[in-house]
Amino acid sequence: MVETIEWTTRGVVMIDQTRLPRVTEFVTCQTYLEVADAIKTMVIRGAPAIGVAAAMGVALGVNHAAEATLDSEFETICATLAATRPTAVNLFWAIDRMKRLYASLQGQPIAAIRAALVEEAQLVYRDDIAINRAIGANGEPLVPDGKTVLTHCNAGALATAGYGTALGVIRAAVEAGKRIDVFADETRPFLQGARLTVWELQQDNIPVKLITDNMAGHFLKSGRIGCVVVGADRIASNGDVANKIGTYSVAVLAKENGVPFYVAAPISTLDLTLASGDQIPIEQRPASEVTEVFGTPVAPENTQVENPAFDVTPSKYVTAIITERGVARAPYGESLRALAAAEGDLK
Ligand code: MRU
Repeated sequence: MVETIEWTTRGVVMIDQTRLPRVTEFVTCQTYLEVADAIKTMVIRGAPAIGVAAAMGVALGVNHAAEATLDSEFETICATLAATRPTAVNLFWAIDRMKRLYASLQGQPIAAIRAALVEEAQLVYRDDIAINRAIGANGEPLVPDGKTVLTHCNAGALATAGYGTALGVIRAAVEAGKRIDVFADETRPFLQGARLTVWELQQDNIPVKLITDNMAGHFLKSGRIGCVVVGADRIASNGDVANKIGTYSVAVLAKENGVPFYVAAPISTLDLTLASGDQIPIEQRPASEVTEVFGTPVAPENTQVENPAFDVTPSKYVTAIITERGVARAPYGESLRALAAAEGDLK
């Protein structure tokens, strides 16, 4: 399976997701500013992956910070990484985790602080892979044998430390011997489905077909799709789900056609401070992503554009939310709170 991000002695190494699938190239970030830039420019993307990147970015920043100004530099490092992308809550969750550790290390020699932060960032990475395997194990029984699974965007190994959330459920179903294939929505405008999901599944020899986003309704009506599985960037306490733009349309079409719509996400994607999805900040991205395809204009000059990167699917369209601690179903207010409290980390 592809290595998305890695802590090395040379720096934080990431596969460049802006260049896949044509070029497999790795970027080495030697400073926290380079990590922040990699998140902003989507060299690395996907909610859990940017959380891991941010944790490693904090560790990298502290490794280069001066002892005399450590506290203020730490604040700047965290604020800079937090300002990269607004929607995926895993980014803020990971930075808060590093902040809590840093606070607990006050008074220790700088070498010990640096070592502890590096260890913690690597733990965030290792935990994420274990969490995704647990999500896969919990979600696999929901995937019907002999059917097609529809997914949107990329919630795979590339969007996490490894294995994936939605694609983790698909991987677990394949590992369990189920005969399934995958339809990947291309996911305009950034084409995470076409470029990343198809590439990633091909690496693992999991049968996949690419469809354009506007074909999803046609196939959901056809009876071929056994279920939809997608990831999430933030889940409010009532079960509303922010995920890649276009997810909402797929969810409505799934419900209309009686196809189960599953969301696979770690507990760290829950934001129980928010009552509903209306409060989730939605990132707006550059117009050029819509007016151009790989630098080639596909619209007249000066075309006005809206480019929200995410939408919110109301929980009434969500059949179940698959986490590492179990599967939540409506009423989500209760089921999500119970899962979050299971390990005592209720936000
Ligand atoms: O803009 P992106 O590519 O970071 O958006 C990614 C998604 O919307 C994913 O579905 C989500 O982060 C879940 S990844 C396991």
